[in-house]
Amino acid sequence: MEKENKKVSFSGIQPSGDLTIGNYLGAIKNWVSMQKDYESFYCIVDLHAITVRQDPKELRSRTLKNLAIYIASGLDPVKNTLFIKSHVPAHSEAAWLLNCFSYTGELGRMTQFKDKSQKIGESVSVGLFTYPVLMAADILLYNTNVVPVGNDQKQHVELSRDIAIRFNNLYGQTFVVPEPLIAGSGARIMDLQNPEKKMSKSVENPNAYILILDSPNIIRKKINRAVTDDYAEVRYTEDQPGISNLINILSTITNVSQEDIVKRYEGLGYAGFKSDVAEALVEELAPVQNRIKELLDDKSYLEKIYSESAEKANYIANKTLRKMQKKIGLVLR
Ligand code: AMP
Ligand code: TRP
Repeated sequence: MEKENKKVSFSGIQPSGDLTIGNYLGAIKNWVSMQKDYESFYCIVDLHAITVRQDPKELRSRTLKNLAIYIASGLDPVKNTLFIKSHVPAHSEAAWLLNCFSYTGELGRMTQFKDKSQKIGESVSVGLFTYPVLMAADILLYNTNVVPVGNDQKQHVELSRDIAIRFNNLYGQTFVVPEPLIAGSGARIMDLQNPEKKMSKSVENPNAYILILDSPNIIRKKINRAVTDDYAEVRYTEDQPGISNLINILSTITNVSQEDIVKRYEGLGYAGFKSDVAEALVEELAPVQNRIKELLDDKSYLEKIYSESAEKANYIANKTLRKMQKKIGLVLR
């Protein structure tokens, strides 16, 4: 297929904490599987991360680490545009313009805002409130067709659609209206200690999550300690959320369906099942971890990738930004 005919995919991850297998199975692995068929832009969304306080030194090093993770997971940096959002100023400008076409009511209804602001209390930044508008700018600047994300981001992509449609209705066809693309069994990886909640890098108890960079022994320990139940049968049901989560993890890594996994462990207890889940994870992550370490030792290579990608991203984003400015009635220079 010719490059020009390919559909466009855009997504991003915040460098706000070390990445978990939720990010890996819910987002990155899906991006890797799409790279042949889409013209892809994957961004490290540093400007989203600063909607809550970040340590400057850590933010800088995590931004580079995330780029290394993208590449080490199998994203070809030549075929995919892998860039750092603050290198493309059009995102911030487009976000301001789109702020003027977004409503406080719809932003107040975003569940991520409600959850995060409840946790933070009084000092909730304005940035956290308008965060989904910056995300809409990210997506719309690249004429994006699909946005591959985990389930928790679906609401934000739907808001981006609403904003695009609203703008198109006012000014005529300007934006492609994007669709969310939600991964299968990896779309919602749950907290290992509290499987009613999604796995997140921002909880206190490290046994609740597995990091992409966790060592094999830590992975084994964390899976071993994962909360299960008293049924002692590997089944994929709502009243066994812990076991169902482990089934989803195994299914996403091995490409075996949930039903086939359940069949395979019929009549067997949890010990062997848990150890198989742990080994599948270790096997999947070991080569990725090695490659991440190699890449982090070669900063000039990473610098080359993000600089070249920024040029390409700036070119496309500026084109769309100019179109927006023109339609709104700003004087172009
Ligand atoms: P974030 O870490 O919030 O920037 O999320 C980056 C990407 O990872 C988004 O596409 C999320 O939907 C996805 N993601 C984060 N946590 C999980 C999870 N527990 N299960 C599946 N996908 C997730
Ligand atoms: N808000 C997303 C998250 O927390 C990250 C993100 C920012 C994003 N901009 C994006 C995802 C554009 C997809 C497309 O996961």
